[in-house]
Amino acid sequence: MLDKDIEKVLLSQDTIRDIVKRLGQELTRDYHDKFPIVIGLLKGCIPFMSDLIREMDMHIELSFMNISSYFGGIESTGDVKIEMDLGMPVKNRHVLIAEDIVDTGRTIKAVVELLKYRGALSVKVVTLVDKPAGRVTEYQPDYVGQTIPKAFVVGYGLDYEEKYRNLPYVGTLKPSVYMNEE
Ligand code: PRP
Repeated sequence: MLDKDIEKVLLSQDTIRDIVKRLGQELTRDYHDKFPIVIGLLKGCIPFMSDLIREMDMHIELSFMNISSYFGGIESTGDVKIEMDLGMPVKNRHVLIAEDIVDTGRTIKAVVELLKYRGALSVKVVTLVDKPAGRVTEYQPDYVGQTIPKAFVVGYGLDYEEKYRNLPYVGTLKPSVYMNEE
């Protein structure tokens, strides 16, 4: 049912599986002795983070924040708002933020700065998808699954008006889907 709204698949399920495995190996190598807090930015992080942490062969703690910037549309509003804060201090801890996408860079930059201000020993970012063409602020994620061109993508956590997060792959939406709703 969801497939019919997708114009092009950018990351298939097999591709995502390979990416997650590779990132898990890199993170295991870099963090095995650091007992990091892996922080997911809700809600987009859920499928990626869930798969990624199972490829990380080490002790970790999990925590979540809910940051909003898009409010459901296809363009970033530019506002970054903390809807739900972490339930634990990050002071003197290594922090790894798991993101589904870095687009304008506003969300992640704000969160990284906040966690550094709170005294984290290190703050790094792993993102499934990086869209550097969307940047409005200079930012380079530390671990990138795949770089994609400037297109509006949905699936595997990424939404359009809260829908399509449960699509098991990442793809572009047919313009007719969002044009019909305007
Ligand atoms: C999306 C995405 C990132 C952010 C990236 O979150 O999950 O957190 O936008 O965009 P940026 O680089 O332009 O800041 P959103 O605010 O839509 O919330 P969601 O995770 O609930 O979809």
